[in-house]
Amino acid sequence: MNEIRIEKSASLKPKPDASQLEFGKLFTDHMFLLDYSEELGWHDPRIVPYGPLTLDPASMILHYGQAVFEGLKAFRTSDNRILLFRPNKNAERLNVSNERLSIPEMDEAAFVEYVKALIAIDRDWVPSLEGTSLYIRPFIIATEPCLGVRAAKQYLFAIIMSPVGAYYKEGIHPVKINVENKYVRAVRGGTGFAKTAGNYASSIKAQEEAKHDGFSQVLWLDGKEHAYIEEVGSMNIFFKIGGEIVTPELNGSILAGVTRDSVIGLLKSWGYPVTERKISIEEIRRASEEGKLEEAFGTGTAAVISPVGQLHWEEHTMTINGGETGEIARRLYDTITGIQSGKLADSQGWNV
Ligand code: COI
Repeated sequence: MNEIRIEKSASLKPKPDASQLEFGKLFTDHMFLLDYSEELGWHDPRIVPYGPLTLDPASMILHYGQAVFEGLKAFRTSDNRILLFRPNKNAERLNVSNERLSIPEMDEAAFVEYVKALIAIDRDWVPSLEGTSLYIRPFIIATEPCLGVRAAKQYLFAIIMSPVGAYYKEGIHPVKINVENKYVRAVRGGTGFAKTAGNYASSIKAQEEAKHDGFSQVLWLDGKEHAYIEEVGSMNIFFKIGGEIVTPELNGSILAGVTRDSVIGLLKSWGYPVTERKISIEEIRRASEEGKLEEAFGTGTAAVISPVGQLHWEEHTMTINGGETGEIARRLYDTITGIQSGKLADSQGWNV
């Protein structure tokens, strides 16, 4: 890893009111940049004032979407330490995404060091108000100017950071979800398991239509049979059915969420049976009809836990736990946010 060059911003921006933060709208004073070329590999790590990038209009990212990203958070503890939640998992997953998108591998230890170095410069931006954090967005784009369809030979890795409030200002609350029958998010053999821009681009239309129809998000079914549950919005999904907690198995079209992995770990440590397997929407409908659908919730870095209060699928309306937040969703939310903010003991050793 070469030495990080640091160019400090001459004028620092005023810090926002932490009680008014929205998701991903304000950015800190600095950003981290690193270039890739065939001759030099990943080189010239630097922290520079946050600002626009200069891109050749033929940059391959603009045409063929060769891009990957990550999302993680930093928290300020009551004794003023700054904690990162499982950054090594993001480093690992970035390389999984890189491999799928034919982007050169990155050194995972260096990734974590780069995140730490940027936070050290902008540490005053990590908010302290309960429920707030600094959202960190590392990403890689293909910068080589070329219109040929192939892997680029030049890339930019960047990290930007944004102070964010709790995803739901009024605390976690159950949402209404529509089971998507027209669009699919990903198919096996495609890029569903990679955190790449195109997966999100192709999901927006369904999200817009769901919003228009009065739903918060969509529940994605598999692309082949339209029968098996994959994800909810941009999150992983869990159900509690007759005492058993289930989540779709990682099958190639589902993103391996860091929160998903943390939830599975916590549930197992609490003695709950957790199974990763295929779950059909018909199984959920039947469980609901038989009164066995006890809880449903999404998991992700941004919102942590998002309970599902109601599911709509074709002519069926399934109300879950009377439309209230379930006991497990609540306990998971309190535990994960408690560990992240340093209020609860980190017995899993997740914080850095
Ligand atoms: C998450 O953190 O849950 C996400 O995937 C959403 C992010 C793309 C804003």
